[in-house]
Amino acid sequence: IKNIAVLTSGGDAPGMNACIRAVVRTGIYNGINMFGVLQGYQGLINNNISHMDARSVSNIIHLGGTVLKTARCLEFKTDEGMELAYKNLQAHDIDALVVIGGDGTFTGAKRFGEKFGIRIIGVPGTIDNDLYGSDFTLGYDTAINTVIEAVDKIRDTADSHDRLFFIEVMGRDSGCIALRSAISCGAEAVLLPEKETSLNELITKLETGASTKKSSSIVIVSEGHKDGGAYEVAKKVKERFNHYDTKVTILGHLQRGGSPSSFDRILGSRLGFAAINELLKGNTMLMVGLRGNDVKTTSIEEALTKHTFKLESDLLEMTKVLSI
Ligand code: F6P
Repeated sequence: IKNIAVLTSGGDAPGMNACIRAVVRTGIYNGINMFGVLQGYQGLINNNISHMDARSVSNIIHLGGTVLKTARCLEFKTDEGMELAYKNLQAHDIDALVVIGGDGTFTGAKRFGEKFGIRIIGVPGTIDNDLYGSDFTLGYDTAINTVIEAVDKIRDTADSHDRLFFIEVMGRDSGCIALRSAISCGAEAVLLPEKETSLNELITKLETGASTKKSSSIVIVSEGHKDGGAYEVAKKVKERFNHYDTKVTILGHLQRGGSPSSFDRILGSRLGFAAINELLKGNTMLMVGLRGNDVKTTSIEEALTKHTFKLESDLLEMTKVLSI
């Protein structure tokens, strides 16, 4: 292998820059020519590929977002798009790719790798923490800390006004951010995509809280919750429960930004370093991830097919017990 390119794709996640830096510098350290692709797979199609040196990644480890930019690229799902992308890689003599992203990114990588035989290593980068094969995905730790900071602030005002807040958090169809932020913030209840919620139970819980002198309540609603997001649930609850003034906050994209935590900077650096080392060993179609405190590989196929996050049963039980 002489030439390797790196790209970020799908939703950005804090820590991607630390990973790009590690990929580029580990490659250069090992005598590889390194390239960066702007805007993910779209940049491969548009030939937005440029040479990177060690200084191209100076002073980025602390930045949120991704300096390589990112995109959700529909064209890469077509044969024509993939062929164009391959032609552009060939034109630069690039023989391997490091792709940083979530399951959409890996689905594209799998098809592309199988079709053209190009070597690919994936790094799990998404705030959703929903990829099989890594206990943590890049960006999740920073995102959940952002959520916690925001919910704590809402708690201050909720408590001052004796209000009930429904706070919607991201995670697509994974309840990881919702469940763990609910525990971290002492939420009264949490509504998850993986679990059916009974409106009756939720209302009984809120009523018990009100009758036992709770001055405010926070309900965390995962955006993927099957019976509706925070606005819908708040509306249904309001029809039958009016002990508190009710408010809704959607945390939205602020959860994706911000300077990466120490955890995400180290994780990004470790996984970027490992991605290049896997390519140097001759490996392909693997995802590097963290299991326990070790970097391990999983086939991209397995990371995709087993991708669901499993809710921890003790945390689920605790959402009932600790919020009485
Ligand atoms: O996958 C990361 C994520 O932030 C999800 O939690 C969310 O559902 C989605 O991306 C939002 O995507 P977009 O920024 O394209 O609207």
